[in-house]
Amino acid sequence: MKSTTRTSFFRHETLEKNVGWLIVATIAVVSIAGLVQIVPLFFQHSTTTPVAGMEPYSVLRLAGRDVYIREGCVGCHSQQVRTLTAEVQRYGRYSLAGEGVYDRPFLWGSKRTGPDLARVGGRYSDDWHRVHLNNPRDVVPESNMPSYPWLRKTPVARDDIEARMRTLRKLGVPYSDEQIAQAAGELANKTEEDALVAYLQGLGVEAKNLGQ
Ligand code: HEC
Repeated sequence: MKSTTRTSFFRHETLEKNVGWLIVATIAVVSIAGLVQIVPLFFQHSTTTPVAGMEPYSVLRLAGRDVYIREGCVGCHSQQVRTLTAEVQRYGRYSLAGEGVYDRPFLWGSKRTGPDLARVGGRYSDDWHRVHLNNPRDVVPESNMPSYPWLRKTPVARDDIEARMRTLRKLGVPYSDEQIAQAAGELANKTEEDALVAYLQGLGVEAKNLGQ
């Protein structure tokens, strides 16, 4: 009679009983799955091509984005409208990968203590944003957003703006030599509040022209 307890290396039991092989096999499976899922995204046009009308950040908006990063706004605000009806009704068109091609690093976020900001551009006036950033409770009495009164008193940093634009250009953002040369000049006499408001006012405006 043939033995049914034949021990062969190529049995699942080998993996189940040998943690070393289990680790090797798990890494192999996860790596292949990762490659199959992630690598094609680098070559898909929908994830690498900017949506229609999308331009690289202007110098002022780029500086404002840095203020947004420094102040940790991403800790309370996401920038991605999901494809759920409730979200689309509240915020507007759902976010597209092509809207994030110039975002390095991206600021999609994962926490919503405050509302999503992906479509906030043009929703309020510049003055509203200035009052709100200085003290949110002046316009939204029940707000628990922190005040940022120093932004209007602080000139926006401009000594390294050219270097930062050059780095972004290396990563594929099409800034011209002329834009980079004029960058520091454009930030003269601007405050961090000016820059942040410009950044917020541009969020999601391209998507409004795409239709639903
Ligand atoms: C502790 C959490 C928290 C942080 C940090 C925070 N916010 Fe808020 N934000 C909120 C909450 C809550 C609201 C909703 C109430 C209100 O409008 O003030 C809000 C509202 C807003 C709105 C209005 C959005 C809308 O659609 O009505 C904007 C714009 C905004 N925040 C920008 C910022 C910016 C820029 C920063 C960083 C400088 C920031 N927030 C930091 C919690 C936060």
